[in-house]
Amino acid sequence: MVGTPQVVNISDLRSLAKRRLPRAVFDYIDGGAEDEVTLRENCRVFDHVTFRPHNAVSTPSCDLRTTVLGTTLELPFLLAPVGSSRLFFPQGEVVAAREAGAAGTAYILSTFSGCRLEDVKAATTGAAWYQLYLAGGREVATQAIRRAQAAGYSALVVTIDTPVAGLRERDVRNGIKELATRNLFTMLPFVGQILMRPNWLAGFLGDGGLMSFPNVVLPGKGPMPYADVGAALEQAVVSWRDLAWIRREWSGRIIVKGVLTNTDARIAIDEGADGVVVSNHGGRQLDGVSSTLRALPEVVEAVNGRIEVLFDGGIRRGSDIIKAICLGARAVLIGRAYAYGLAAAGGPGVARAIEILRTDLVRTLKLLGCPSISSLAPSFIENSRSARLFPN
Ligand code: FNR
Repeated sequence: MVGTPQVVNISDLRSLAKRRLPRAVFDYIDGGAEDEVTLRENCRVFDHVTFRPHNAVSTPSCDLRTTVLGTTLELPFLLAPVGSSRLFFPQGEVVAAREAGAAGTAYILSTFSGCRLEDVKAATTGAAWYQLYLAGGREVATQAIRRAQAAGYSALVVTIDTPVAGLRERDVRNGIKELATRNLFTMLPFVGQILMRPNWLAGFLGDGGLMSFPNVVLPGKGPMPYADVGAALEQAVVSWRDLAWIRREWSGRIIVKGVLTNTDARIAIDEGADGVVVSNHGGRQLDGVSSTLRALPEVVEAVNGRIEVLFDGGIRRGSDIIKAICLGARAVLIGRAYAYGLAAAGGPGVARAIEILRTDLVRTLKLLGCPSISSLAPSFIENSRSARLFPN
């Protein structure tokens, strides 16, 4: 079902996901904030980067391995934290983590996941990182940090671009808030889209219905209910000062996700981060903020090799990954690219997304005359400082 000729690229997985999911769930994955300007820009800007191949060079085999924070990955991309994956497919986070491990790469689990962090770690043979929001407050986050440490997560990813949930207008129109109330009367105007997707609905009900957040355990109350996310984010905004106590609680690596400027990059280093992710949350938070590829050179320059720079946003093809690496990223995170696969077909869909990107990478390296990811250099693309690269 996810093989050729039906599925040739990530966009085909997106189409399959759209067919399987109720509109509210598909748009939750696919959509961005407000006018979705940044969402579109994240993808569009890759079109303006042109390659400079070394032709007449034979590269019989291409080495895709890379090392991120001391861990060797078979691929130069990791699976980004994607909240609520359990809504896309039964046991979604467990399923996605298993496929990441099978492909030799790492999975990053969102705080807002529907599966227990211990179960997700146990499902993968690869590395797992835990993405932290302070939802529920410091005590609740501390419990999650301790659990993640005990379960064997090797890095903590602190997301700093979400002091409030972005206005994702598709979600409002589709009745996400109303559907999360579990009150039949409130839900009624929005349930038609769900009844139209019986396959998805059967899986959803078989998996226990609307998930709660088993890694956000509120004292005396248990797992945080789905409907409480927005309020929880606003009540527990992460700030640079939090890095100090997080560092005390967590003995592994810390990565700051959501850096877009040289100033924030420098602060992250001063606060002891081991890495940053140049990210605008896939255009889901501040609309009108720079596309991430445009922000990348500024951050790379400010960091100046002191810590590792990762990148995400808009990756839909292996050639996008190569462009980001040529501009200085150590590796990238993919979000929607695998989320579409998960939503389209569960494990085989995630595996297909990974395979598409993997074969893209090998083909593009060969066409560039470059034997490995580690040999990529700025010289394989047009001068990144040229204004021509990023016309407005
Ligand atoms: C996200 N992202 C995200 N990031 C994060 O730190 N915590 C989270 O819980 C989530 N949740 C989430 C849900 C969904 C449906 C999407 C699509 C994204 C952002 C994610 O980690 C990553 O930054 C972007 O997805 C990268 O952009 P692309 O690859 O989707 O274009």
